[in-house]
Amino acid sequence: MRVVSGIQPTGNLHLGNYLGAIRRWVRMQDEAECIFFLADLHAVTVYNDPAELSRNVNGMAAALIACGIDPEKSLVFNHARVPAHAELAWLLSCTARIGWLNRMTQFKEKSGKNREGSSVGLYAYPVLQAADVLLYQATHVPVGEDQKQHVELMRDIALKFNTDYDVELFTAPEPHIGATAARIMSLRDGNAKMSKSDPSEMSRINLGDDDDMIAQKIRKAKTDPEPLPESVEGLAGRPEALNLVTIHAALTDAEPQAVLDQYAGQGFGQFKPALADLLIATLAPIRARLQDFEADPAALEAILAAGAAKASERAAPTLEGAYRALGLPRG
Ligand code: TYM
Repeated sequence: MRVVSGIQPTGNLHLGNYLGAIRRWVRMQDEAECIFFLADLHAVTVYNDPAELSRNVNGMAAALIACGIDPEKSLVFNHARVPAHAELAWLLSCTARIGWLNRMTQFKEKSGKNREGSSVGLYAYPVLQAADVLLYQATHVPVGEDQKQHVELMRDIALKFNTDYDVELFTAPEPHIGATAARIMSLRDGNAKMSKSDPSEMSRINLGDDDDMIAQKIRKAKTDPEPLPESVEGLAGRPEALNLVTIHAALTDAEPQAVLDQYAGQGFGQFKPALADLLIATLAPIRARLQDFEADPAALEAILAAGAAKASERAAPTLEGAYRALGLPRG
């Protein structure tokens, strides 16, 4: 089992990233060879203030380590330090079809009405994402539900390249999506996913939020006046209630039904403080570790530089194999 996944270093790490992806990355470290990176070349598909982007790369790397990613076990680096990603992306963009990219729902969401004014990079970035994974012969890609389509695209690109050039070069990876926390929703709207790009800070819990802020965000989270039902079916049509129950279940590694067994018949006046306590107990130690790391930028720099050097070595044979398959051996 070889595991590869990434995260864009924009804004803050939030609870959706943590429960949907990163907590599973941490757990997979003991079972597989793992590579995790900050997708800074993805971040530049839209304008980012350069100084802020640079700060965010380091901040997000510190956050991953604070969550439990161990650089002794896993490779941790940022895209921009490993040129093989951009190189393979170009080669694969000649295999990916325009029709395939036209189906990507994230591009449609992110470009909105401004399709013609979007960057070519925003349109093509699922190909870079394919390169990110195919370079390392990954078998599993742990992601939230929103990335499933991109992983399916990677499989299509891998298989078409292998077939077109009659090689067995790329491994087709599987998406690895968690059962309970595949899609954590906004605290203000149970039909929208929790996201870094939501303008309302109250819509998400950030991993750096202090205890009071976490409690306040849960207290103000949108809900309905009904008590919690006895079974999960009773949450149908109550997306905000379902989301809070899902978060509780994910934090305690339980099924949503087990949460309802405990809280059925109780209102949010009782449920919300219990959820806030649970969140605080989970996030406070991560926040403390994050603060330690932020105080030591040299340690972080050393981790990213070492991770990038090892990643370049790991990526080299597949990259060379791709050039060779195309009839472009490089010596
Ligand atoms: P990004 O930075 O948007 O999100 C990072 C990870 O967090 C998951 N996630 C969520 N899971 C559950 N509920 C949510 N509300 C939620 N919001 C985010 C995402 O599914 C993702 O797993 N393109 C990717 C980064 C990337 C990548 C890759 C991922 C670049 N190269 C190669 C996998 C493999 C992205 O923008 O994720």
